Amino acid sequence: MPSVYIKTYGCQMNERDSEAVAAQLVAKGYTLAVSEHAADVVLLNTCSVRDNAEQTALGKMQAIAGDLRRSRPDVVLGFMGCMAQSRGRELVDRLPDVDLVLGTQKFHRAADYLDDLLSGRREKVVDVEAEPGSESAIREHVLNGRGGRAVTAFVSIMQGCNQHCTFCIVPFTRGPERSRTIPDIVSECRQLAEQGVREVTLLGQIVTSYGRRERPIQEGKSGFVQLLEAVQAIEGLERIRFTSPHPKGYGDDLVEAYKRLPKLVESAHLPVQSGSNRVLKLMHRGYTRERFLEIISKLRAVRPNMGLTTDIIVGFPGETEADFEETLALCREVEFDNAFLFKYSPRKDTPAAAMSDQVPIEVIEERHARILSVINEVGARRYAALISRRMQILVEGPSKKNAARMMGRTRCNRIVVFDGADRHRGQLMDVQIVKSGLFTLYADPAIVNLPGSGTSVHDEPFVPCGPAHRP
Ligand code: 5AD
Repeated sequence: MPSVYIKTYGCQMNERDSEAVAAQLVAKGYTLAVSEHAADVVLLNTCSVRDNAEQTALGKMQAIAGDLRRSRPDVVLGFMGCMAQSRGRELVDRLPDVDLVLGTQKFHRAADYLDDLLSGRREKVVDVEAEPGSESAIREHVLNGRGGRAVTAFVSIMQGCNQHCTFCIVPFTRGPERSRTIPDIVSECRQLAEQGVREVTLLGQIVTSYGRRERPIQEGKSGFVQLLEAVQAIEGLERIRFTSPHPKGYGDDLVEAYKRLPKLVESAHLPVQSGSNRVLKLMHRGYTRERFLEIISKLRAVRPNMGLTTDIIVGFPGETEADFEETLALCREVEFDNAFLFKYSPRKDTPAAAMSDQVPIEVIEERHARILSVINEVGARRYAALISRRMQILVEGPSKKNAARMMGRTRCNRIVVFDGADRHRGQLMDVQIVKSGLFTLYADPAIVNLPGSGTSVHDEPFVPCGPAHRP
């Protein structure tokens, strides 16, 4: 049977889509290759959020085509995902070596199309049509990654976005919002739990809009909160995460869910984009700086040690030095654990791309460096403050940087590396933090109940969710 290599660019949604395609192909008998050099099929799952991401994938495909086509003329080359969707046939015209262009509503067709291409029935396939029901087609998993069974899994709950932020191409690449049903999502999560998964991350472009049309508000609870309650009830699951929410969707029902649902971890990725009300308005974000700060303080009132990360765009058209300084001040005020910083990139057909006062690249670079140093400084301080604390981690597997050590995550989503063994995989363990690095903590397994074993204070006060298995 043929082998396939899938390379993924961009966000967790893309990672999840690639995983589902891989699982669907494995079910048809394909093997998964570790590099493009050993594969009969090479698929690049692409990102369109910034031009940089598109250029990287285009360059990679050019290099692969130049390299592989000569030695193995029968290799099948394909683009999938967001850039495939936004550029369509243009990709084949520009790179004639490309055989397959698969849009964001067509991932589940990969196996059939590859069959056609490998058997010579078709020479090229470009499919970027809309497909009703495709939001429910991302459900298969590969659960033997990282040298053993998976402890965590991504679950796609919806597709698309109706927000139309003026900078963003996603509504064009992912289409309008479509949600899966709660029973469908719960059944996927339950199967994962039965296979040993302990933590799920619910994924969508704007998860807080989940079920807005399909599931009316019940007893003051949005469709998303109803979904969280249903996932909370699944036996065997210990932790629930989600990404990405929109600040607009952080209603009191969601804040209150953190009080009631012990499996909902105290961690939120809350994209602010800018700290200036003027820029937020130009971006069409639908909230103000004050409202954003109010959400943060409500969350911290419920879970004082909430782990908070964000996305920030530097150099949105018209952003002045004063606007930028408001963003810097907001970062200092909130004290995010970490932030993803994006240099503004004009995207096709978006209103911001046509705005007249684009910020020069030198200014963007300079602001980017300044905000990066604030984020790093605050992050380093917050991480260092955890030294000598005892924290609960869920052990995921070997550390990516040093396979001789194990890694897990705190409920606040901080990575913790420690000397452990494969028998710890999948366990909720108490560890004592001994050192902090840049966005990583290092720990020793805690010796429980001995006097003097650390401060014995959980950095993240949590309602215990099931027994913590100890080595
Ligand atoms: N330029 C730069 N960053 C962008 N993002 C989205 N569109 C753009 C753009 N045109 C960033 C936002 C979003 C993250 C996924 O990507 O910060 O939250």
